[in-house]
Amino acid sequence: MSLVKLENVVKRFGALEVLKGISMTVEKGEIVAVIGRSGSGKSTLLRCINALEPVQGGSIVVDGIEVTAEGADHNQLRARVGMVFQSYNLFPHLNVERNVKLAPKLVRRQSDAQASELARRMVAKVGLADKLLAYPDELSGGQQQRVAIARSLAMQPTIMLFDEITSALDPELVGEVLKVLEGLADEGMTMMLVTHEMNFAKNVANRVIFMHEGRIHEDGPARETLLAPKTPELRSFLAAVLH
Ligand SMILES: Nc1ncnc2c1ncn2[C@@H]1O[C@H](COP(=O)(O)OP(=O)(O)O)[C@@H](O)[C@H]1O
Ligand SMILES: [Mg+2]
Repeated sequence: MSLVKLENVVKRFGALEVLKGISMTVEKGEIVAVIGRSGSGKSTLLRCINALEPVQGGSIVVDGIEVTAEGADHNQLRARVGMVFQSYNLFPHLNVERNVKLAPKLVRRQSDAQASELARRMVAKVGLADKLLAYPDELSGGQQQRVAIARSLAMQPTIMLFDEITSALDPELVGEVLKVLEGLADEGMTMMLVTHEMNFAKNVANRVIFMHEGRIHEDGPARETLLAPKTPELRSFLAAVLH
């Protein structure tokens, strides 16, 4: 079953065409790594899928919701699509538990007790059970990013989108965040992730999409695509990131 289906999606910022006709699907349970040079349209692609950006052409359907339809219910969409960014943006004045249970209470109208129980489970899932009552500034960047993942999971999404979530972290903190993603992968979570961690992409993703100048330039099984790129553009990109 396709959870995400894009057909000929065109996105422009003024005269600048950033997505030049993107067609792709993501199947339930698939882990898709999106790679490519800075400016190739990776973030824009994720943002369009989550309706954070309107598109100028084509159609996007996510978990049965036609994102690009006139009057589409974006709140319903965002309850099913979790997104985590490079900057974790936790509320500094709320402890971990309250950061995580905020959305379930406000959006899902859960009781405080229900939301607390859910928060405890999600925080444990990212390996921070002992930090439930800590405040963001008492946590490392890696721990804060794991809380951001827990916060997103608390909405019980059907798909998770991750945009370079380890890029701002000190190198020694990257592993603990990737480990959380591996755990989600093992549970069968459907994921699209923009990443520069090629080893992670090779070992954990099922599929790699290489974006180049607003188009999908290669799309194939992760290992094959990364080990034997078909196009000179992907070859030179990989040479540059692996240096
Ligand atoms: N809000 C915006 N307004 C104008 N141009 C934008 C905006 N967001 C992104 N862009 C441009 O779109 C192109 C693709 O950006 P982006 O999707 O962020 O690339 P990537 O994530 O692959 O680095 C870039 O040229 C960028 O400058
Ligand atoms: Mg980006």
